[in-house]
Amino acid sequence: MNLANINLLFNRGRCSVLIAAISAASLTHADPSSTGDFGRLFPSLPAFQPADDVLVRLAASMRDPNLPVNDNPKRTGSGFTYLGQFLDHDITLDATPLSEAEIPVESMANGRTPRLDLDSLYGGGQIGNPELYDEQGRFRFSRPNGFEDLQRSPSGAAILPEGRNDENLIVAQIHILFQKFHNRCIDLGCGFSEAQRLTRWHYQWIIVHDFLPEIAGQDTVDKFLIYNGAGKPNVRYSFYKAGNPYRPTIPVEFSVAAYRFGHSMVRLAYVMPTGSVTKTQVFNLAGNDLRGSRPIPPNLKIDFANFFPLEGVATPPGFNISRKIDSLISAGLFNLPIGPVVPPDPPAVTSLAERNLLRGKRLGLPSYQDVAQAMGIAPYSNAQLGLTDPGLGGKAPLWFGILKESELSENGARLGPTGRQIVVEVILGLLDKDKSSYFSSPQAWSPEGGKFHIADLLAVVNGL
Ligand code: HEM
Repeated sequence: MNLANINLLFNRGRCSVLIAAISAASLTHADPSSTGDFGRLFPSLPAFQPADDVLVRLAASMRDPNLPVNDNPKRTGSGFTYLGQFLDHDITLDATPLSEAEIPVESMANGRTPRLDLDSLYGGGQIGNPELYDEQGRFRFSRPNGFEDLQRSPSGAAILPEGRNDENLIVAQIHILFQKFHNRCIDLGCGFSEAQRLTRWHYQWIIVHDFLPEIAGQDTVDKFLIYNGAGKPNVRYSFYKAGNPYRPTIPVEFSVAAYRFGHSMVRLAYVMPTGSVTKTQVFNLAGNDLRGSRPIPPNLKIDFANFFPLEGVATPPGFNISRKIDSLISAGLFNLPIGPVVPPDPPAVTSLAERNLLRGKRLGLPSYQDVAQAMGIAPYSNAQLGLTDPGLGGKAPLWFGILKESELSENGARLGPTGRQIVVEVILGLLDKDKSSYFSSPQAWSPEGGKFHIADLLAVVNGL
């Protein structure tokens, strides 16, 4: 569906039309038990535990020298990087300090619901977090610079259920985008819960139809997602066992390795506003960067046309292409700001690559080669992965192996076979187990007109 049509539907549509296809899906909510929030896909595989200094060296070697040649061959828009981060902040939060991370995985609590239900946006809803909403159930905004910003306290920190969504100015503006979509539904006459359900379901649809195909390939989605005769989605499981269906387990192979693939897609710098080609670094030591926890400055207000390809709209000169998925990480992620991004737990580890590798070891992740083999995938050897440190004993950390495998097998255009199967199976599994997702609607649901992409969401919000 083109942008004009979808916007027409939203302009003409009343809430009752838009939700006509949504039947009274039973919104059974979670068993509040928090046992087993995290678990393992492969509990019988041995932990891979090289010495810390070996991992610290490996992390340092992952720093991208930022030669101007690493464009993603698929020209994936950088919006997908931060949609991916926003998605992560919706489903996993392990707040254990790195220095205390060596605990049984089963005892770790997930600070988010393991559902793509936007609890990061809605918190406890109108009753649990009334400060987020006006009388009609719209999200409230601050307008310190004349345009909608997150509500902020005098310190500049945002008032929102998931503080990480104010960690950088791109993810913060994705958060605002979904808030605006909800508000648009209210403007069309939806009550709060109808607007919430429409927002969640369109977001889930975009994850299944835009995001996963972009980062993992449609063939991988098709491998795990099948539709019955009535068009209802069903998941074909290979390795993921959700445990308690009311509060599915998040496997650490997903949250501490495979889904952290997005760290490799982060660019050194981005063009933010309309009509500009000036780039601003994500994080730098000078602090003139994209860090959050402050009102969005007018010169860093995002133009999403610089981040997502929009049908019928010429790609602007400042269009940001994501980095490849490979074993290199942007320099800005080696000096994360203490406070907005990493906690000051001593010693403050400000290299994201180091944090990922050390946390993987602390949590006893198996090696990349063992996981690939357990999934029936022929793994790359350390020599093929370019790893020569004898301290690794011929094996690779799972996060590193998944990144390098994407580079070797896909030229970084999408995840390689190990990473993409873990990511897609777990995300679709979470949608499948969620009794309030569109997968669980008694009748097959699809957005008005049968198609909906991120470009359509932008059109609805911006009235393009
Ligand atoms: C500027 C961009 C980003 C920054 C600064 C950032 C920073 C961080 C930090 C500091 C952590 C905690 C590390 C630890 O202590 O173990 C983390 C965790 C994580 N990140 Fe990112 N990240 C970014 C983007 C992304 C993207 C694009 C994705 C995926 C598409 C992603 C996925 C994850 C996941 C899955 C976790 C684990 C969350 C949890 O279970 O608590 N991140 N990130």
